[in-house]
Amino acid sequence: MTLRVAVIGSGPAGIYTAEALVKQAQEDVQVDVIERLPTPYGLVRYGVAPDHTSIKSIANYLRRVLELPEVRFLGGVTLGEHLSVEDLLASYDAVVYATGAMVDRKLGIPGEDLPGSVAATDFVNWYCGHPDVSASMFTLDSPEVAVIGVGNVAVDVVRVLAKTAEELSSTDVPHDVLERLGESQVKAIHMIGRRGPEHAKFTLKELRELGELANADVCVREDEAVVLGGDFPRQIRGNIDVLQSWAGRDPVGRPRRLDVRFWLRPVEILGTDRVEGLRLERTRLSEEGRVVGTGEFETIPVGMVLRSVGYQSVPLPGVPFDERSMTVPNEAGRIREREYVAGWLKRGPTGVIGTNKSDAAETVRTLLSDLAGHDRLRSAPIDALLHERGVRPVTYDEWLAIEAAEGALAKSLGRGERVKLAGLEAMLRACRP
Ligand SMILES: Cc1cc2nc3c(=O)[nH]c(=O)nc-3n(C[C@H](O)[C@H](O)[C@H](O)COP(=O)(O)OP(=O)(O)OC[C@H]3O[C@@H](n4cnc5c(N)ncnc54)[C@H](O)[C@@H]3O)c2cc1C
Ligand SMILES: NC(=O)c1ccc[n+]([C@@H]2O[C@H](COP(=O)([O-])OP(=O)(O)OC[C@H]3O[C@@H](n4cnc5c(N)ncnc54)[C@H](OP(=O)(O)O)[C@@H]3O)[C@@H](O)[C@H]2O)c1
Repeated sequence: MTLRVAVIGSGPAGIYTAEALVKQAQEDVQVDVIERLPTPYGLVRYGVAPDHTSIKSIANYLRRVLELPEVRFLGGVTLGEHLSVEDLLASYDAVVYATGAMVDRKLGIPGEDLPGSVAATDFVNWYCGHPDVSASMFTLDSPEVAVIGVGNVAVDVVRVLAKTAEELSSTDVPHDVLERLGESQVKAIHMIGRRGPEHAKFTLKELRELGELANADVCVREDEAVVLGGDFPRQIRGNIDVLQSWAGRDPVGRPRRLDVRFWLRPVEILGTDRVEGLRLERTRLSEEGRVVGTGEFETIPVGMVLRSVGYQSVPLPGVPFDERSMTVPNEAGRIREREYVAGWLKRGPTGVIGTNKSDAAETVRTLLSDLAGHDRLRSAPIDALLHERGVRPVTYDEWLAIEAAEGALAKSLGRGERVKLAGLEAMLRACRP
């Protein structure tokens, strides 16, 4: 008898889970991929930077999974709103939660909630056209902006701030957002690491791209680029070499300037009604390797602070959650009987898209070995249940209609391959005219 599995979330982890389930040879499987948005692919659509088109094309691989006859996409259905864990367990033999990490980590410093202090999650959602954030959410009216954190998301955010609207015009950035980027007053961007160049989390390829920006000079202070010791892994050595090659370089007069700073931690975001500055303290590592302040401070006169210090998962109603690690406790993907987890919700918000493939494979191995030889559920009331509750899931074909409308919009605007439709209503209008 067919094994029926619900996968919650259609990001890379969810789709790789569906693929691993279908491609194994032991069992006949039917997989429903249940997604709160009308669109699949999670952060591949609403995270990966719009100018990283080759990475975005991973969606072409993921789409082939959704087109398998054993897989069904149900968009616009939210676990915790339209369905409960009990509903899922009554309809499926097993459930895999793969809902990612949707919110920002907090800095925990005064001024963090002032207008102009912005979570990278919101800013990324904005330029990616996520329906949770409206195009009018941000106006880039400050000449100086600080980006806190030196990970790959910070690098993405910096690149989008540094590029001209023209450079981004062929991407899928929603048109209203592109217009706002075109009106940007940003002249100086400060990217701030609380430790040294050898501790930065960004990867070499992404760092190098900053040095190739046509619209911004990149500067590093010589004293902050100094690194003690020399035995570093290749990636880190590469980062250090690139940063040191930029140190002391004079700006050549490009319209924008990016200052990459190290050994500074934010201690207060200043301002009364909105952000007027950022107070930083110089840092060093303690004997135990912890970041500690030196008591030396500096203030930079920024009107916007973008906090790019990592994402975190949110608890799902009825699903165990560890508030310390902000993940779902599991053993090789197993949470408890018939319930499993994959992706960022399972292991925290680190790793590239491909990392989720082996991670999903592990969860699927556990699931199959647990369920081998067990009785199967005889009924699957999920469709009737959703109908009863007035929920009409967005089908895969309806998603294709949204995609086609985005292609048509790009064409009419003389932009690239597609332009994202802004807002849920526009998406639903496109697929249910
Ligand atoms: C800004 C950013 C840029 C990135 N860029 C790159 C890159 O260029 N290259 C790279 O290799 N990696 C990149 N990554 C990392 C990569 O995106 C992640 O490794 C990957 O997306 C994690 O997959 P996931 O499926 O666990 O989560 P997600 O991709 O977040 O997918 C989770 C899905 O679950 C859905 N969901 C959430 N809650 C519910 C619910 N209650 N009910 C139903 N559905 C729900 C969400 O809408 C979403 O579609 C980036 C990450 C970020 C944050
Ligand atoms: N192109 C790509 O491949 C790409 C693009 C985007 C994202 N991703 C991946 O997605 C994952 C998430 O990326 P991310 O950039 O959000 O997270 P990340 O890699 O964990 O980087 C977070 C950064 O924030 C800093 N930070 C954390 N808390 C801080 C605090 N209180 N004060 C100051 N700084 C603080 C960290 O410094 P410490 O190290 O000192 O903690 C680090 O520099 C990563 O695995 C990343 O590689 C990949």
